[in-house]
Amino acid sequence: MQWWRDAVFYQIYVPSFTDSDGDGIGDLQGIRSRLGYLELLGVDALWLSPIYPSPMVDNGYDVTDHRGVDPAWGDLDAVDDLIADAHAHGIRVTVDLVSNHTSDQHPWFRAALASPTGSPERARYHFRPGQGADGTEPPNGWCSVFGGSAWTREPARDTGAREWYLHLFSPAQPDLNWTNLEVWADLDKTLRFWLDRGVDGFRIDAAHGMCKKLDDAGPAGAADDPRFDQDDVHDVHRMIRATLDHYPERVAIGAVGVRSAARFARYVRPDELHLAVDTQLAASRFDADEVRAAIEDCLASVGSVGAAASWLLSDHDLSRPASRYGAGPVGQARARAMALVQLALPGAAYIYNGDELGLPDAALPGDARRDAVWHHGEESRDGCRVPQPWEPDLPAYGFTTGEPWLPIPVEYAALSVAAQLEDTGSTLSLYRRALELRRLHPGFTQPPAPGPPLEWFGAPPGCLAFRRTGTTLVCALNTSPEPVPLPPGDALLVSGPLDELMLPPDTAVWLT
Ligand code: NOJ
Repeated sequence: MQWWRDAVFYQIYVPSFTDSDGDGIGDLQGIRSRLGYLELLGVDALWLSPIYPSPMVDNGYDVTDHRGVDPAWGDLDAVDDLIADAHAHGIRVTVDLVSNHTSDQHPWFRAALASPTGSPERARYHFRPGQGADGTEPPNGWCSVFGGSAWTREPARDTGAREWYLHLFSPAQPDLNWTNLEVWADLDKTLRFWLDRGVDGFRIDAAHGMCKKLDDAGPAGAADDPRFDQDDVHDVHRMIRATLDHYPERVAIGAVGVRSAARFARYVRPDELHLAVDTQLAASRFDADEVRAAIEDCLASVGSVGAAASWLLSDHDLSRPASRYGAGPVGQARARAMALVQLALPGAAYIYNGDELGLPDAALPGDARRDAVWHHGEESRDGCRVPQPWEPDLPAYGFTTGEPWLPIPVEYAALSVAAQLEDTGSTLSLYRRALELRRLHPGFTQPPAPGPPLEWFGAPPGCLAFRRTGTTLVCALNTSPEPVPLPPGDALLVSGPLDELMLPPDTAVWLT
């Protein structure tokens, strides 16, 4: 059973979901205590942000042991308990896998710094001599995704000349050398370690990274970016797939940011990843033409290799939809409308924790910000990472009995889970109903008809309307400033109030 093809994944940013021990940071027991909520919400699977031991320079995306659990989140027993309980609730568990880089505190990197130039310990990373007479210039002009050079010079040492090491993200995240077979063997061991414990799959971080064209000193960021999406990376994904194929019903999902639909499709060829998360929908403005183009592009791309699509509106790196699409009630209304578009599309869907509550980004004072990116002068991602509000009347809104690691704005109280649960007009109720219809309505449960997975209908300017081929469920969206006539049919679910027979601006509807 290819359960992932239309599964709803719920992304839990572990530090921000629920804290069980009062240290102000979310943890595995906290997630376990919320499984009833997740079942009620109606998600099929979880995607947990990295749970591995980490100095937390990048909140877990800097890993010191890929086969362990950071004490901040719990321990291996807590993972086993969470998996068992989630399965009992009918929810699968997938985990983030950081294979492009390690922490600079990883034993491998420490050993590399302490080992002679040219030694096997250093060959697990990318070390290069600097340019210039005394090697004080980086080996090439590549930039890090977080800003600044992608090279950092190692500290002075006794075992050889000072070299530079490559990090596509922060200097605390040295990139692994994927031409080194030891690195491959270690990933295989890591995959089996977690698969044997019962995880249902992996979200592979920076899945288009890993392999680089290091001899290409051209400016990174050009059309053919030598840092990313190199052909060799597909060998790594074939290895990952071959290992997963020994375990029934497990899934590999790539976080893939590439320059074209054709390149994207290569990651989900039949012997590579099961799914790749497309970011084009999230990158689209609230504009019917842009949204439609993103949908068409993704469907054509994955369809060319027989893979399922997967749709994401936001994650822990992006501004939340309720802020991104506009301020205040307009942003809220548009985020609700886009949720109905996302959840009507054929394929898998990812919901980022808190989006089901319509949380806006939190405005945080500079001294409260924690994001590694912020310290590198880029825009902070902390605004979308603020802890989940559960109860309006409890301290820290029920997230922790201690001091939350990021301050929770007062306006989150009215958006907390308890405040929305019984309110039929709330965003939470909208998500619950949409997920219920995905499970039960023939518009979703009927096997797909042959041919393209989606049919478009004619729609007024600024609007779009589509249905999954062969079903009667139509989704219509109005991004224009004027109300437009509703398509024929009975409204099953609406993102906002309907205006007689008109679909108001900033609104989407499911009709049958
Ligand atoms: C992508 C992750 O989504 C992001 O949060 C992280 O900072 C980088 N990869 C580096 O691991």
